Amino acid sequence: MKRPHLIYILLISVFYNCSYVNEDDLTEDIIIDDIVNYQDNIKSIIDNNCIFCHNNPPVNGAPMPLITYDNVKDAIENRGLISRISSTDVGFGMPFGGPRLPQNLIDLVIQWETEGLTEN
Ligand code: HEC
Repeated sequence: MKRPHLIYILLISVFYNCSYVNEDDLTEDIIIDDIVNYQDNIKSIIDNNCIFCHNNPPVNGAPMPLITYDNVKDAIENRGLISRISSTDVGFGMPFGGPRLPQNLIDLVIQWETEGLTEN
């Protein structure tokens, strides 16, 4: 009975992958009533998409960690983080090598900067 078992695992992983980035994530604005802050809104975006390389210590050629609030704030202020995630140029954009983040997540990071980069 090894084979049916394998099919269940396959089905679960296919479902997981499909549900991970659904169409709503890509098209709908995320409406935040409060001011956007690092702990509630931004950390998870960075954790899910960036720290694979921007760990501490950073790996895969990434030049700095994006683990803490200070790391991410510094990268926005001094390392062009927003132009990197906004770029459609595969050689320049982040995450390195693509795919580009869903637009609503990019917009949220931009909103965070506009509202003053608050921590929590
Ligand atoms: C697969 C590995 C990888 C992932 C994932 C990744 N990066 Fe990078 N990142 C790199 C590498 C390698 C560099 C250095 C090369 C370059 O500047 O293009 C870099 C450079 C950067 C820089 C420029 C740093 C400087 O001082 O010039 C920023 C900002 C940045 N990444 C932000 C991000 C953000 C934000 C994410 C997530 C949305 C992310 N990266 C995801 C590998 C990665």
